[in-house]
Amino acid sequence: MILVFGSINIDLVTRVSALPRPGETVLADSYRTLPGGKGANQAVAAARALEGQVPVRMAGAVGRDGFGALARETLGREGIATDLLQEVAEATGCAFIQVDDGGENVITVAGGANRLLAASVLNNAPFTPADILVLQLETPLAESLKAAALMRAAGGRVILNLAPAPPDLAAADLRRILDLANLLVVNEHEAAAAAGSLGRQGLNARDAARMLASAGAATVVATLGPDGAIAAAADGTHIGAASPRIVPVDTTGAGDTFVGVLAASLAEGLALQPAMERACKAAALACLALGAQSAMPRRKTILG
Ligand code: RIB
Repeated sequence: MILVFGSINIDLVTRVSALPRPGETVLADSYRTLPGGKGANQAVAAARALEGQVPVRMAGAVGRDGFGALARETLGREGIATDLLQEVAEATGCAFIQVDDGGENVITVAGGANRLLAASVLNNAPFTPADILVLQLETPLAESLKAAALMRAAGGRVILNLAPAPPDLAAADLRRILDLANLLVVNEHEAAAAAGSLGRQGLNARDAARMLASAGAATVVATLGPDGAIAAAADGTHIGAASPRIVPVDTTGAGDTFVGVLAASLAEGLALQPAMERACKAAALACLALGAQSAMPRRKTILG
């Protein structure tokens, strides 16, 4: 089983010719209401990559509102088990996303219900050594770490995606993450931020990944956009994976696609390098249409 413990949002997505600067108002034609949230996106990416080969389950929190119902229904339609969704007295998370003509985006997330997600929801969910727990940082870190400890105690694997990069990540928290995660996945910005929290400023993603890997037991996977991804292990070894060339329409959710498909591929039994190749391809394909889940490829396309 893949268990994603994390955020669920509804995304309000607007296309603009240029992203607004502070104080500027830009006009757009319309907006779309799309399912999102890094956790839910990663669950959907995994479910589409697996198409039933391995079950996918989502633990998250939504409000008692229309967005919550929409998110639950969307996950269910993807074949994802939703029995571990909590309903809480906060509005469902909502992300305000603007995408420009070059496919770049800016995102503001109103966390809402996500801020109340508690690891206690996992109390009656037994894990096995075959299971993979997938975590990100749009829900409380302390609860994610509790979930990670439960999975590691059961012998399962933990993938933690350090997204979004916390501006003030304490060194002690990062060290705890590096102890509990089997794989830490970062993009270039997150890699630099994590290295900075250990006192190493200004490292590029490759060097940051190597440094982070040497600081704990986790293998650190750094995604490099069009340049693919690298993985640095604690023993000093590293591997790489290439990304197909594409012209991006919208990069929203590309990182989530990478993480979900990486987890799916490992759960299916692939070794890390081919799993990274598959995840890079899926992430590139996810940039070819507007939205996060709405653009994620299915198994046949990924394997084709
Ligand atoms: O990574 C993309 C996601 O970030 C969006 O779906 C949005 O909900 C935010 O969480």
